[in-house]
Amino acid sequence: MDRIRIVGGNKLHGTIPISGAKNAALPLMIAALLSDETLILDNVPRLADVALLQRILGNHGVDIMAAGKRPGDHEYQGQTLHISAKNIIDTTAPYDLVSKMRASFWVIAPLLARMHEAKVSLPGGCAIGTRPVDLLIMALEKLGAEISIDAGYVVASAPGGLKGATIEFPKVTVSGTHVALMAAALAKGTTIISNAACEPEITDVADCLNKMGAKITGAGTPRILIEGVAKLHGARHTVLPDRIETGTYAMAVAMTGGEVQLSGARPELLQSALDVLSQAGATITVNNDGIKVARNGAGISPVTVTTAPFPGFPTDLQAQLMALMTRAKGASHITETIFENRFMHVQELARFGAKISLDGETATIDGVSKLRGAPVMATDLRASVSLVIAALAAEGETMVNRIYHLDRGFERLEEKLSACGATIERISG
Ligand code: EPZ
Repeated sequence: MDRIRIVGGNKLHGTIPISGAKNAALPLMIAALLSDETLILDNVPRLADVALLQRILGNHGVDIMAAGKRPGDHEYQGQTLHISAKNIIDTTAPYDLVSKMRASFWVIAPLLARMHEAKVSLPGGCAIGTRPVDLLIMALEKLGAEISIDAGYVVASAPGGLKGATIEFPKVTVSGTHVALMAAALAKGTTIISNAACEPEITDVADCLNKMGAKITGAGTPRILIEGVAKLHGARHTVLPDRIETGTYAMAVAMTGGEVQLSGARPELLQSALDVLSQAGATITVNNDGIKVARNGAGISPVTVTTAPFPGFPTDLQAQLMALMTRAKGASHITETIFENRFMHVQELARFGAKISLDGETATIDGVSKLRGAPVMATDLRASVSLVIAALAAEGETMVNRIYHLDRGFERLEEKLSACGATIERISG
């Protein structure tokens, strides 16, 4: 298994191109199942999760063509996928595929909406808490689906097609909102989703669905209105930039010091995280090409942060912020409210000499003046990248094991960081 070796202590200087958002690319690819015409997606990141979803969609009979590189294309530019779900040959998503990636469960919505049936394996356990799918099932039942659970599979049918309804989510759920949106796009009549997730990736998917002929208004607000249509057509859509990748590199720069241009980043997608970074002592400048992050001279100030649905501080940046706060001058407090048990990085950060104590949902981080490199590994991708951030500022060598998780969510991580002066290399095998 590949590992990443990092020797800490270098400041970061240069430019990092921001890739397309993983968490938009995945539902956008799944949305292609809604139409028998081709959906063309630009700026799709080259990630293990994207490759896996290509396999999963292939199992349903979807043809995917990845456009080759054109002369002048920069290697960092995302790929263009031509996705054609002309013939859906199988409405079952099997356990061995769904269990590898939770988001693939979401195929249930377009399969049910277009084919009026779907049989999808329950996604199973996950390293960041129990993560149930009860709210996704509730939304589909509201739209008229009949659902049963059989031998680990969710079996759903809607013989006469789905029907518009009011879906009120008792808690904000990104997965629930994606599923409700995709299913309602082809349901008969009007659907209202209230207490909808407002994450930018929801808006990106709604924009793409509208280009395909859907009638969706209000995406990005807690109330989304969908007038169902009989058919969706082909379209072309560019995946929005990855706000979590942006925030991750911004935290890396705040950690090491230096100055880096995050090219293509959109500040409005992560304002809450940028505000926290400013409080922590980083200088954030928005310019035409994206965001410039610098920390020169000043130390890292401690912060108190609670994760929350968008536009709050994202849970997907919690581990990275914790890594940064291990070097703050004083005590920081980070409260995780979205996922139970999303603190696996705490023990691994301790291997660098970090001082972190946990009390329920809240971590208290007492900043230390020095971290020391160590062999580490983590079991989810954001936790893994928090170890990279710590390693960049630690004295000596760190070996990050199990980097499979990094490859799921960070495109060319070691290339992007080494281009800015980090000593980081992938060791194969
Ligand atoms: C999405 O997960 C993201 N994944 C996650 O990113 C992200 O952390 C999360 O949203 C929150 O922003 C993708 O977009 C592929 P939820 P999702 O439904 O949709 C509970 C990463 O690192 N819930 O908003 O699964 C759930 O347990 C990943 O890229 C139910 O109780 O998250 C959680 O506590 C990790 N019942 C809360 O809602 C349900 O039926 C929010 O989950 C569904 C969810």
